[in-house]
Amino acid sequence: MEERDDVNGRDRAWQAIGTAGRRTLRELFEAEPGRLSRLAVEEAGIRFDFAKTHLDDALVAAFTALAEAADLPAWRETLFAGGIVNVTEGRAATHPAERGQGTAENVARAGALHARMRALIDAIEADALGPIRHILHVGIGGSALGPKLLIDALGREAERYDVAVVSNIDGAALEEVFARFDPAATLLAVASKTFTTTETMTNAASALAWMEENGVEDPYGRVVALTAAPDKAVEWGVDETRVLPFVESVGGRYSLWSSIGFPIALALGWDAFETMLEGAATMDRHFRLAPLAENAPVLAAFVDLYYAVARGAETRAVFAYDERLRLLPAYLQQLEMESNGKRVRADGGAVGRPTAPITWGGVGTDAQHAVFQLLHQGTHLVPVEFLAAVEPGHALDEGHHRQLLVNAFAQGAALMAGRPHDDPARAYPGDRPSTTILLDRIDPARLGALIAFYEHRVFANAVMLGIDPFDQFGVELGKEIAKSIDTGGSADFDPSTRALIERAFG
Ligand code: F6P
Repeated sequence: MEERDDVNGRDRAWQAIGTAGRRTLRELFEAEPGRLSRLAVEEAGIRFDFAKTHLDDALVAAFTALAEAADLPAWRETLFAGGIVNVTEGRAATHPAERGQGTAENVARAGALHARMRALIDAIEADALGPIRHILHVGIGGSALGPKLLIDALGREAERYDVAVVSNIDGAALEEVFARFDPAATLLAVASKTFTTTETMTNAASALAWMEENGVEDPYGRVVALTAAPDKAVEWGVDETRVLPFVESVGGRYSLWSSIGFPIALALGWDAFETMLEGAATMDRHFRLAPLAENAPVLAAFVDLYYAVARGAETRAVFAYDERLRLLPAYLQQLEMESNGKRVRADGGAVGRPTAPITWGGVGTDAQHAVFQLLHQGTHLVPVEFLAAVEPGHALDEGHHRQLLVNAFAQGAALMAGRPHDDPARAYPGDRPSTTILLDRIDPARLGALIAFYEHRVFANAVMLGIDPFDQFGVELGKEIAKSIDTGGSADFDPSTRALIERAFG
């Protein structure tokens, strides 16, 4: 993302960011009376509150200058126009078109593929493939994490199909599902953009064998392929009518909106899937049209960059105060770290400053009793993100939900306020930043919007750093070496690795 970059403007902006005054959060609230209205954005039934971060008017102005110097508005248009934003691979990134946002051609193509998916779902619901009750979805990374998150968050009451998402090549993961699924009532969904990923193809073969060994006459007749490589799926044995393609320009970690979302649509119903796409489209429009300083994903990226670059924070923590979002940190780890965990710019030059922080997190209130000690009194600066929903996700006494929210709000307040004490061990330094994302409720529309918010935040970060968020060359070397170990070539390895190979395989 170099060629449109105003390098001098960018450097000037970084300088302004680095030399901006450093007031405490308490001082900022006192000095900027309009702070809350400027730094809290309401969009798509979600409140994004950045007021408890160190962004102030001067920093927002400096980051806006950085975004403009990096040409974020033009890159944003290029993204929606289906132009090349994945520079290193010479590709577009058309996930917004899956939500109806993009060129007429890209939107129509995505719509046609959705229609194909819907027709197959209708047929499955009409028992055309037999009496299906269980869906075994095998896939990994972006071909698993989105479906897993959405089904875990929203599928609790659905009772349509029992869906298991299996990613790990460790046979223990599949075995657990074999123990509870009925092979005669199981549909196997093989999800792989490339249809070559070792983990997924190994798991798919074992699942087929399990069906066959358990008397399913035509196991291949129970397989659906979700892929951007339909020819490979057909070659592997899936009937063309049960191949649900998606386009190459939808990246793996941006693919839950495409046919990779097939188990989501089966588990929650087609209407819910469509509502999720519409929620994401609401966030797409906001990202595309809102001024930079009022734009939730852009402000979030300012916060990310401020702490990672100007304050040297090496991690950021995400705590969902809602059991339904317990898989969100894992989803974000791939989205953020596989996208922006890079050290070179799209043009090959060094970025020269920290890029994606390490994303970690968990659920509240569990995390309060495990890792919050470090957040309140440790030596690391960790920007924290709290997520919560106003409406509960259960029918138990309302005291449960009240306590959940009370705790979420208390932690953000405590991190900011701190508390002095004569005994240093009992003192809280305070002035520790947090962002709060408060959803009206957890439903398909709001989760669609939330995930699109994270996608655009990643994109905004990448543009301002000048990196390509859509490639992932860093995962290749390990795969190649694994292949080489697997095929017996140990001679080239270091003594430690050779000894491990020897010890395990003899
Ligand atoms: O190894 C990383 C990766 O390529 C991810 O980017 C991707 O989501 C995952 O593997 C799975 O890839 P595929 O969908 O092609 O099986």
